[in-house]
Amino acid sequence: MCGIVAYVGNRNCKNILINGLKRLEYRGYDSAGIALLQGADRKAGSPTNIEISIIKEEGKIRALEREAKELKIDGNCGIGHTRWATHGEPTQTNAHPHLDCSGRIAVVHNGIIENYAELREELKKEGHKFISETDTEVLPHLLEKYYNGDLLFAMQKVLKKIKGSGAIVAISAEHPGELIGARIASPLIVGISKNENFLASDMPAVLEHTRNFVVINDFETVRITKDKVEIFGKEGKLIERESFKVNWNIASAEKGGYEDFMLKEIFEQPYGVKETMRGRLIDGKLNFDELNLSIEQVKNLKKVHIIACGTSYHTALIGKQIIEKWAKIPVEIDFSSEYRYRDPIVEDNYLFVAITQSGETIDTLAAIREAKLKGAKIVAITNVVGSTVARESDSVIYTHAGPEIGVCATKTFTAQIMVMYLMGLYFARVKEHISQSKCQKIIEELEIIPNKIQNILNKADEIARIADATYKFTCFLFIGRIYSLPAALEGALKLKEISYIHAEGYPAGEMKHGPIALTDTKTVVVGIMPIDSVYEKILSNIQEVKARKAAIFSIITEGDENTKKYADYVFHIPKTIEELYAILTIVPLQLYSYYIAKHLGRNVDQPRNLAKSVTVE
Ligand code: F6R
Repeated sequence: MCGIVAYVGNRNCKNILINGLKRLEYRGYDSAGIALLQGADRKAGSPTNIEISIIKEEGKIRALEREAKELKIDGNCGIGHTRWATHGEPTQTNAHPHLDCSGRIAVVHNGIIENYAELREELKKEGHKFISETDTEVLPHLLEKYYNGDLLFAMQKVLKKIKGSGAIVAISAEHPGELIGARIASPLIVGISKNENFLASDMPAVLEHTRNFVVINDFETVRITKDKVEIFGKEGKLIERESFKVNWNIASAEKGGYEDFMLKEIFEQPYGVKETMRGRLIDGKLNFDELNLSIEQVKNLKKVHIIACGTSYHTALIGKQIIEKWAKIPVEIDFSSEYRYRDPIVEDNYLFVAITQSGETIDTLAAIREAKLKGAKIVAITNVVGSTVARESDSVIYTHAGPEIGVCATKTFTAQIMVMYLMGLYFARVKEHISQSKCQKIIEELEIIPNKIQNILNKADEIARIADATYKFTCFLFIGRIYSLPAALEGALKLKEISYIHAEGYPAGEMKHGPIALTDTKTVVVGIMPIDSVYEKILSNIQEVKARKAAIFSIITEGDENTKKYADYVFHIPKTIEELYAILTIVPLQLYSYYIAKHLGRNVDQPRNLAKSVTVE
């Protein structure tokens, strides 16, 4: 799980690459490096005297930037990489780019070469010398082996040799002004501009230079010069592909005045949720053409199967409750990583839904492929246009939350929940399981959800004060029932991933079957308990843990005076209909995790051991 950026053009590119890597740090951040074709500007077209200069550093891009400033090297063709270690420790030697024996070919790579051990042995026997512990290092040596004067040809041979995944970019001192890229299962895009072109793992890396993009697909290779982009298919045939324009501006990919991306993204939720409704809720009417399902197909739907990981899995839990309640369609859910290894059943009139904010999660991708093999129709819900999941699915519903840079999913989560509500309602209407008047009431409520989220955000200071009073506790139990259970699970996940404090999410009724043994004076129990059909039940659960000396923090509905008798801290959320509380209750929990983590001095945007797109198993 790494980030790649590459440049070819007329400008010196050292800083272009480093700035691009900074925007990709969310993909990995344990070491980084760049390689430049020195002299390529002066000797365009002639390899004589051209050499590759490499700068690599352990740690964040800042370390690389400091080192690069010191060194008086530059060039107008280069590659850069930010790493998240899979094979070999995060050290300077293991950082990319890697070189062949001659030092004339440099490679960056994002992914895993599964057969690298075997290839390495083979290459060693042939006399190649390895210096790192990485799987990637086989790539420059393989390129060296197959090089016959054409680096693209060598790359195409390499793709046939390797097993696994990867976005690969190579430069060679023999080919100044040329980038060669390839892709198997890891994202790679081309950024197109005047007299310069780019390759990158993701758009923010080059958004300040261009808004024109082309996506590279699996098993394709690409040769890029400053004024030409040539894409080749698996068999080496030239492919014509239209570029597309994105309208994300660079400001929306940066912090916009907030201390951290995570906080900025939490505050962007009213916008993300509203944008996600756009086009799907027009004048009080639901439109879901993008599902690509005829009315007849929806009417005949017998089962929905949702798969996802992490936070997106919590969206799946909400989706199950909503679709079953409103549309009366049975919903099965699975962790993507489980689905692919069991023997799931795909039936007729079955819909397979994959939820993934990044659109690149390898387990979700593998589950989709498995379901496809079994004949399922795939609907993807993702935030990233052109992502692998989006391209491999039969239809895609995009959440329009905008780029999420913080590793922690926040605004993509509420946008996903909104899709679940809209989809559940759409199915319910088509299947006539919900009356027009009830549907209208829900729609009216959905339309004001962004304002209600804003109302919660306006009181962020109250949450900051509760975090201030509780951040020294060592155990946090988040409890909820029915519609508040996914929020409890998500609240616990948020807290543990950014604060590194032990936290559990639990169905409130299950507390007495085990977790209640954990409660003592060092425990905070966070009760998600809006006024709904199970409110009285969870109120009893709160009293049980209160009796065992836990501190109680309750998320309650405005006007609820009763809970205050038992809770040490309360936070009020606006009233809504029972099924919609999940999209509101999660917001104070995101803020709570954020403020606790800040108190503890954590890096909330880049929590340890985590990355934004989990592209390795
Ligand atoms: C938590 C988080 C992860 C992701 C998970 C799935 O804040 O971000 O748990 O939800 O890695 O990622 P996607 O949704 O990209 O498939």
